[in-house]
Amino acid sequence: MEYKIKTIGVLTSGGDAPGMNAAIRAVVRAAISNDMKVKAIYRGYKGLMDDEVQEFTTQDVSGIIQRGGTILKSARSEEFRTPEGRKRAYDTIQKEQIDALIVIGGDGSFTGARLLAQEYNIPVIGIPGTIDNDLWGTDSTIGYDTALNTIMECVDKLRDTGTSHERLFLVEVMGRDAGFLTLNAAIAAGAEAAIIPEKATVAEQLEAAIGHGRRKHKNSSIVLVQEHAIEGGAQAVAKVIEKEHPEYGTRVTILGHLQRGGSPTAFDRILASRLGCAAIQALLDEQRSIMVGLQNGEVVYVPLSNAIKYKKNIKDDKWQALQVLSI
Ligand code: F6P
Repeated sequence: MEYKIKTIGVLTSGGDAPGMNAAIRAVVRAAISNDMKVKAIYRGYKGLMDDEVQEFTTQDVSGIIQRGGTILKSARSEEFRTPEGRKRAYDTIQKEQIDALIVIGGDGSFTGARLLAQEYNIPVIGIPGTIDNDLWGTDSTIGYDTALNTIMECVDKLRDTGTSHERLFLVEVMGRDAGFLTLNAAIAAGAEAAIIPEKATVAEQLEAAIGHGRRKHKNSSIVLVQEHAIEGGAQAVAKVIEKEHPEYGTRVTILGHLQRGGSPTAFDRILASRLGCAAIQALLDEQRSIMVGLQNGEVVYVPLSNAIKYKKNIKDDKWQALQVLSI
């Protein structure tokens, strides 16, 4: 018997990311143009458990492509991690007659999606949405490019005051366990150094940071510190430096959640639009438990299990570029 998907559910989960709205828009419009109904689920898995569901038309996603955040709201749900929570989610899926679920989020969201798919045999497609870019199987996640540009612009501004006052600025950057945002923003903003979890020890990176950043001809410098590279983040690094070099006039800026906001870049809008359409195409191609991603400019289907299991590597040439260019 032919199995036809008549109704899809879509939700955003985990940390929001600019471009999530563009992805929702693409999913809704691609689904409707393929004669599917769309049930929008609010507040991620929490809303799925609580049946916070509304049918969407194409008009419901008008005028959102340029907006940051997610119109569906997002949440991190502890309860969904439990079998009882997922049972409640499945009850809603049955009640709402949802045949397949599209989850826009990061690897925590995909882990939950995969468990739900395994336990209740429901087709699930993941769309990578996180500023961290830490998902294996896609060159870029939705929101990463926008966050990178935001960080770069902030560092450019800090450079102005840092140079005027001849200070050392430590800028703390998000990324969860990954250093993609930190390293690439450091290259883009011409920072003197970056401290990331993937490379060397923090002590070694710190030494290099001080050595590179405070040469005789450079009285100011900027070092980007990944939030979890060292316990205590940039503040902890500052303590060490202040003790050894009080003359540096060290200042700390924690960029925090402003890195998650803002209107998505053209790159993120296009990526989100392509991946949203690809998620519907994947369902038409009878794919299940996959993530749609982008590799070398092409849309690909990646098993959700691989996207979760494997670790995406920092490119060595980028790390080397930062060292070479920051002399
Ligand atoms: O995963 C996105 C992210 O912004 C990480 O970079 C950061 O570590 C985390 O979320 C912060 O989470 P919350 O918004 O729950 O504080």
